[in-house]
Order: sequence, then C-alpha cells, then structure tokens
Amino acid sequence: MKEQIPAIQTEALARIAEAADERSLEDVRVGVLGKKGTLTQAAAGMRDVPKEDKAAVGQLLNEARTAITAGIEEKKAALQALADEKALEGIDVTLPARELAGGGLHPLTLIKDEAIGILRRMGFSLAEGPEIEDEFHCFDALNTPEDHPARNEKDTFYFDSGKLLRTHTSSVQIRTMETAKPPIRVIAPGSAYRRDEIDATHLSVFNQLEGLFVAEDVSLPDLKGTLEYFFHELFGAETDVRFRPHFFPFTEPSFEIDVKLTIKGQAPRWIEVAGCGMVDPAVFESINKGRKDELFDPEKVTGFAFGMGLDRLAMIRWGIKDIRLLIENDVRFLKQFA
Ligand code: DAH
Repeated sequence: MKEQIPAIQTEALARIAEAADERSLEDVRVGVLGKKGTLTQAAAGMRDVPKEDKAAVGQLLNEARTAITAGIEEKKAALQALADEKALEGIDVTLPARELAGGGLHPLTLIKDEAIGILRRMGFSLAEGPEIEDEFHCFDALNTPEDHPARNEKDTFYFDSGKLLRTHTSSVQIRTMETAKPPIRVIAPGSAYRRDEIDATHLSVFNQLEGLFVAEDVSLPDLKGTLEYFFHELFGAETDVRFRPHFFPFTEPSFEIDVKLTIKGQAPRWIEVAGCGMVDPAVFESINKGRKDELFDPEKVTGFAFGMGLDRLAMIRWGIKDIRLLIENDVRFLKQFA
C-alpha cells in the first residue's frame, strides 16, 4: 500500500496534466476518486493494513486525495480560461458597445398620465368599468331613449348576446354610483368604440377620460372652474377655453368645451375637446331605483360630469394631423416622443 498510493497519485496527476478537455478530466476523476476508482479501492484495502501502519497509510491516502482533487480543480479552471480566450478570439473587446435603442411612452399614454395627474391633484381618484357593456349602463341609466341615434346598429358594435362595446366611458359613471355613495369624485380613462368610418379624425376605437363629481351643493361654477383649470394646466394658462351650450341626455344643462388653438402662421380656431354638464336628476333617479335607496336624492345631492377625447388632446398638444398615426405603431413617428 505504501508504494501503491503514491503510484496512483503520480499516475492521476499525469493524466490530469494530459487531459485536453473537461470530459477527459471527468474521466480521470471517476477513474480515481469514483466509487470504483483506483484510490477508492485502495482505501478499501485499509482494513487489511496492520495496525501499526494504519496511521501512516491513512495519511498517504488523505494526501493523495487532496492533491488529486486540487489538481482536477486547477485544471478545470485552466481549461475554462482557455475556452474563454478562444471564444473571444478575433473580438476586440475595447470597441464601444452597440447602442441599445431606448423605449419610450406612447403619446396617448403621456397625455393620459398628464391628465390623470392634474385631476388627481384636484382630488379625483381612478374608477373603471368594463368595455363590453350592456344597454342599461351605456344608455338607459344615462337617460338615453330607445330611439337615440347613438343606439343605432349603424353606430354601435353589438354582440349577438345583446351586449355592446361601450360607445363612451360615461357608463363608468353608472357603475360607480351603483356601488359608491356621495361624495364621489372619480375619473375613468379608457377605450370607447363606435362604428365610425375611419379617416384622419375618426377611429373605431378611441380613448376617453370621464369625470364625475357628486356631492351636496355641487354647482355649475364648480364645473366651469374645474375644467377651465384643467385645460389651463394641460395647454397653458394663456389658452382660451369656452363652454358652448349643447345637449347630452344625461346632463342638464350640457355644454361642449372648445379650446382655442393658435398655431403660428394659421388663423386661430376653436377645437372641441370635451362634453360636460350637470348630472340630470333622471340619472340619479335611475341609480336610486337600482340601489333601492335614496342616497342620490336629487333634492340633496347635485353633480357634474365630463368626458373628453384623449386622442384629440394628444393631437392638439403635438399638432398631430392624422389620428391613425396613434395606432399604426410606426417607430419613425413614435420615437419623437421617446
Ligand atoms: N359621453 C359623451 C360622448 O362620448 C361625452 C360626455 C358629455 C360625457 C357630457 C359626460 C358629459 O360625462 O357630462 O360624447
């Protein structure tokens, strides 16, 4: 044994030195240190070693195992270093890296976030509702009669089930009042759908931001002040904002809001950006009926509502002439906003 162990060690170290890849290195390890390896078998012979030699032989065994294990680890590292060197051959690692194209937010996201930010500072919180709606939430509860043109098959996407793609985010007003109680101050940004002919100013999917404020003593000046402030924050304090009387079934009185667009070299013109008004008592009555309570008693609470087109706001902000650019994912267009 005393000769055998050093011989195994010497042979193993020689084979390790010769090993040209990890695979042959592993073969050496298994052949020497594995279950049936030469050193393992030699160790099994310990029991036949005379008592007085056991300590010395044991030490030899340990030394051999340590030396061989270290040899394998060392060689493994050397092989790895060699492989790394090979992989980098012909590559100049001092060359500057290729620049990664950074992403950016879509203009619609930018304008939406900005609008939400302004309204949140005024105390509005976010609400949401489904895009697949029913006629009740999209029309009936909003005081919109059966024969209203918006309910026409020609204008609205209906499913066979009778459900529809919401034509405006105003349905979220109803969804909110069904579960919350006054005071309510919410905004709901989201998609709306109409069967419009697609052109430079119309898409069949567009984006709105709805607002609803219901409490005691909410008045028309509150509505005007809030929205004027909003558009001044968004487009600049010098921007002219006007409220033009209009009709919506769910508000009374109702208005359309225009902002005055002044582009250098062009005559200023008014552009419609939102609809708004004081919540019609008929809407509150419908809510009370559904809730089976009187929390929205029109004698006690009043409210205002508004809905604006986010696509339109983005177009105004950046002078975008064709709304289709907002959905075409053309990087040449989008990277201006990154
Ligand atoms: N829902 C209307 C539309 O899509 C916009 C609107 C008008 C929303 C008046 C309102 C409102 O909340 O009070 O044209």
